[in-house]
Amino acid sequence: MSEPTQTAPAQSLAAAVREAAERLAEAGIPSPRADAELLADHLLNVGLGRLRALMLGDTPAPAGYAELVAERVRRTPLQHITGVAHFRYLELAVGPGVFIPRPETESVVQLAIDHVKGMQAPRIVDLGTGSGAIAGSVAHEVPDAEVHAVEFSPFAHAWAAKNLAPLGVNLVLGDLRNALPELNGTVDVVISNPPYIPAAATPNEPEVALHDPPEALYGGGADGMELPTAAAASAARLLRPGGYFVMEHAEVQAGWIAAVLDRTGAWTSISTHLDLNGKERATSAVLADQATRNERMGQ
Ligand SMILES: C[S@@+](CC[C@H](N)C(=O)[O-])C[C@H]1O[C@@H](n2cnc3c(N)ncnc32)[C@H](O)[C@@H]1O
Repeated sequence: MSEPTQTAPAQSLAAAVREAAERLAEAGIPSPRADAELLADHLLNVGLGRLRALMLGDTPAPAGYAELVAERVRRTPLQHITGVAHFRYLELAVGPGVFIPRPETESVVQLAIDHVKGMQAPRIVDLGTGSGAIAGSVAHEVPDAEVHAVEFSPFAHAWAAKNLAPLGVNLVLGDLRNALPELNGTVDVVISNPPYIPAAATPNEPEVALHDPPEALYGGGADGMELPTAAAASAARLLRPGGYFVMEHAEVQAGWIAAVLDRTGAWTSISTHLDLNGKERATSAVLADQATRNERMGQ
């Protein structure tokens, strides 16, 4: 007579998350425990606080967890697996074809939001909106703002359309160099996180190198400065005199960007801003009035 077959008891959630964190650490993931928990919560949808409480008991691991962990071990970005990126107060839909918004950009958005405090219905433009992280945050946090967003890639534009439609942002598919000509000289704030990586500086992390679209990364030219320079020129075109421009960039570009802005004679109050790690990762400037610009240009 054959022995009755015994099914192995389901692995507990706590053990599965612990093992997943070990596998993710071995794969070189910088935040293995957090990713292991977020993947489990993606399936259980209980929130991290409750997830941790469940791990104290004998709750079984959810079906499909091992497959998600394996995908992350292959260095698929966490946000592509879960389909969402958290940015300030927003939960943005993201996936292949769009740049995943980064935490350092949240501080750049804060500079723009601080600047418009007390303004009535400020007009704000986001150049190179990607998922719509910047434009969407501004629209959400400054409810009376009139927000416009420009994106060149049709793939990113599709994600931005999904994220920005509920927030009332005017999204255009176009080139930041010449988009929104109807707003020339009328905008209060231009904000941008343009592509800025130098051509030869291939990112090390597979999540970035293999999954962020190249058109979102490389700024053009050996120093990556073509698109940041173009964004600054467009800001000078779009802003009213006294309007505010703020742009994210690489740490090494801080001095170059200040010099580019200074050289045009169009800007005053050129300031470099530090990110949370103390790195010079953003620059702001105020568009000078026409008389000052003429004087500087010797006219
Ligand atoms: C670094 S990503 C930033 C995306 C988003 N603003 C963020 O902070 O997450 C730069 C974005 O600019 C877009 N882009 C590149 N060249 C552009 C151009 N000439 N005109 C408009 N957008 C452009 C890219 O497709 C990409 O979505």
